[in-house]
Amino acid sequence: MTTVSVTAPAKVNLYLHVTGRRADGYHLLESLVAFTDFGDRLTVSAASEMSLVVGGPFAGRVPTGPDNLILRAANELRALCGVTTGAAIYLEKNIPVAAGIGGGSADAAAVLSALCRFWDLNLDQTALDDLALGLGADIPVCLRSRPTHMAGIGEAVTPAPDLPALGVVLVNPLQGVSTPEVFKARHGTFSPADRIADAVFADPLAFLAALQVRRNDLTEAAIRLVPAVGEILTALELVDGCRLARMSGSGATCFGLFHGEGHAARAAESLQARHPDWWTTATGFKKN
Ligand code: C5P
Repeated sequence: MTTVSVTAPAKVNLYLHVTGRRADGYHLLESLVAFTDFGDRLTVSAASEMSLVVGGPFAGRVPTGPDNLILRAANELRALCGVTTGAAIYLEKNIPVAAGIGGGSADAAAVLSALCRFWDLNLDQTALDDLALGLGADIPVCLRSRPTHMAGIGEAVTPAPDLPALGVVLVNPLQGVSTPEVFKARHGTFSPADRIADAVFADPLAFLAALQVRRNDLTEAAIRLVPAVGEILTALELVDGCRLARMSGSGATCFGLFHGEGHAARAAESLQARHPDWWTTATGFKKN
């Protein structure tokens, strides 16, 4: 195999309840995570050393030193499996950085999947999940890259049914937000897990109604740190055809859900025209 190319789809937390806190400070979550057709692209090809080159619209914001999550993931996998060659990794960075839609985590998951194929590794899922979780709480879910109920700090992943076909608009204020700071800034009580029943997923209206009564418990904290998150949520709520607007992850990206990708595309155009300082894109949920 000379090259392996994979997508690193952006993830959206359709709801995110903070259900508790562990003794080590990590927060216990319950979240329904979905993946979009929009995302980064990653290619690995043969090389004796490990290297990373980044292109694409957000390339300038990605640190490419040894702390980069892609290189850390690749090097840990290489050490774990005793691989003696390297790999040249190319990342097309389309997802804004530090944005709550899993850019770094999706890229790390993508490089693990790509290198498992490229190096023909037969690592079992538990070993891969352990490695992934050690790198970041969102990486095991990104390895699935399909609708998933996520619990614990991110390690308890259960497949969810396929999602109804909905249009998605992603909006980011182009201001990064630090995940630990958002968790630190969160006050208040904990929420119940409140997982959505499987039967609800087949009906778009029932599914949207179920999301409507759930929330992202990190929203207020993120708005305090980046007030533009509040402005984006209001703009999404007011745009024609938007059925639900929420923040994803620890922010600052927010998403709107629409009946169909046509509505989403028109909404994205209208938001882009009124707010050229925000990053906006229309997409749909990835089909599995
Ligand atoms: O593991 P990850 O890099 O995604 O998390 C960054 C930080 O966010 C953690 O060090 C922790 O402070 C906070 N966090 C948390 N509970 C989670 C996930 C992250 O408190 N479930």
